[in-house]
Amino acid sequence: MNTILQINSSLSGEHAASTALADRLAAALLSRSPGGKLVRRNLDRQPLPHLDAARLAALAAPAAERSAEQAAIVAEADAVIAEVQAASHLILAAPMYNFSAPSTLKSWFDHLARAGVSFRYTANGAEGLLTGRRATLVTTRGGVHRDRPQDHLVPYVRTMLAFVGITDLEVVYAEGLALGAAPRDAALDRARGEIDSLAARRAA
Ligand SMILES: Cc1cc2nc3c(=O)[nH]c(=O)nc-3n(C[C@H](O)[C@H](O)[C@H](O)COP(=O)(O)O)c2cc1C
Repeated sequence: MNTILQINSSLSGEHAASTALADRLAAALLSRSPGGKLVRRNLDRQPLPHLDAARLAALAAPAAERSAEQAAIVAEADAVIAEVQAASHLILAAPMYNFSAPSTLKSWFDHLARAGVSFRYTANGAEGLLTGRRATLVTTRGGVHRDRPQDHLVPYVRTMLAFVGITDLEVVYAEGLALGAAPRDAALDRARGEIDSLAARRAA
C-alpha cells in the first residue's frame, strides 16, 4: 500500500498556496493508488520545538535512564522518523521565508536526522537509511529565486533529504506570487499543470 506523507509549513493557514498545491498533488497521487493512505503533519499548528541542549540530551540518553520528560521528547522525535519510514512518497509544502525554509521545517529536519536511525556514519562517510522513497517539494515564493544564489530553500531541502537517503526529489515552483494578480494566477496555473503531469508520471 502506498502511503503519502504531506508536511505543510506555511503560516498562512487555509489561505496557503503551498498547502493547496500539495493537497492537489496528494489527491492526484491517491486517486491513482487505490487503497493508498495520506498522513498530514502541519508544522505551523503543531511545531516541533527547536533542537536545544535538553532535547539533544534526551535523544542521547539510554532508554532505561530517560526521565519521563526525556521519554516524551524521544517519543515526539521518534514519531517524525516513523512517519517518514512508513511513507512511500513525501510531499513537502514550503513557502520561502527570508530566502530559506520556514524555521518549523528546519526543526522538523533537525528531528528527522538522527545518527543510527535515519543515517549512519561509515568508514566511507555518512549513509542515509531512509532510502527507497520519493519526494516532491512544492515551494511558493513572493519573488523569483529559482536556481539563483539567494535560494537557500531548495538546496537545503535537497541536501537534507539526500543525507537521510532520499535522493529521488522533484521540485514544483510557484514563484512571483507577490508580483500582482496576473503573474500570481499564471504561476499557480503553471504549478497546477506541473503537479498534474508529475502525478501521472509518478503513479505510472
Ligand atoms: C515571514 C515571511 C518571509 C518571506 N520571505 C520571502 C523571501 O525571502 N522571498 C520571497 O520571494 N518571498 C518571501 N515571502 C513571501 C512568501 O514566500 C509568499 O507570500 C508565498 O506565496 C507564501 O506561500 P504560502 O501561500 O504557501 O504561505 C515571505 C513571507 C513571509 C510571511
